[in-house]
Amino acid sequence: MTTALCPGSFDPPTNGHVDVVERTIGLFDRVVVAVIDNPAKEPLFSTEQRIGLIEEVHGDRVEVTSFGGLLVTHAREVGADVVVKGLRTVDDYEYENQMAQMNRHLTGMETVFMPTTPEFGFISSSLVKEVAKLGGSVSGLVPDVVDRALKERLS
Ligand code: PNS
Repeated sequence: MTTALCPGSFDPPTNGHVDVVERTIGLFDRVVVAVIDNPAKEPLFSTEQRIGLIEEVHGDRVEVTSFGGLLVTHAREVGADVVVKGLRTVDDYEYENQMAQMNRHLTGMETVFMPTTPEFGFISSSLVKEVAKLGGSVSGLVPDVVDRALKERLS
């Protein structure tokens, strides 16, 4: 059985994240989505809220965890064989490739890059938050449950 780990901030989960996680579910036997727990970054949604939103979107087809230390340590804890990351842009590649090489250096953990579906290529959690905070519509950019949570959080 091969286990894939999809890590991220997910603040909030977007349709870009959903695309990558769903395609990962189609490729691997077991998928763990890991939410980084980093209070210093002052996320809009708590770690528990982000976990809840991901669980609502993907149901029991994924396990959702959180972690606060090294990604490779958490990967070992959950029995992951590979880390899966979505790539949108060349900038993403530069950043993600450096992290992938560091993670491989640390424990031998391999990373698989998944090119984002083009229609989701411009979506990021930070832009979604900016648009929502400024009163714009994020419908179609995030799952409905996240759209509702954003409206509630920002009202
Ligand atoms: O959604 P994001 O913000 O791009 O996710 C980035 C994340 C959480 C996957 C990344 O910051 C991470 O792996 N953090 C854990 C810290 C770590 O392991 N650092 C050293 C290896 S590069």
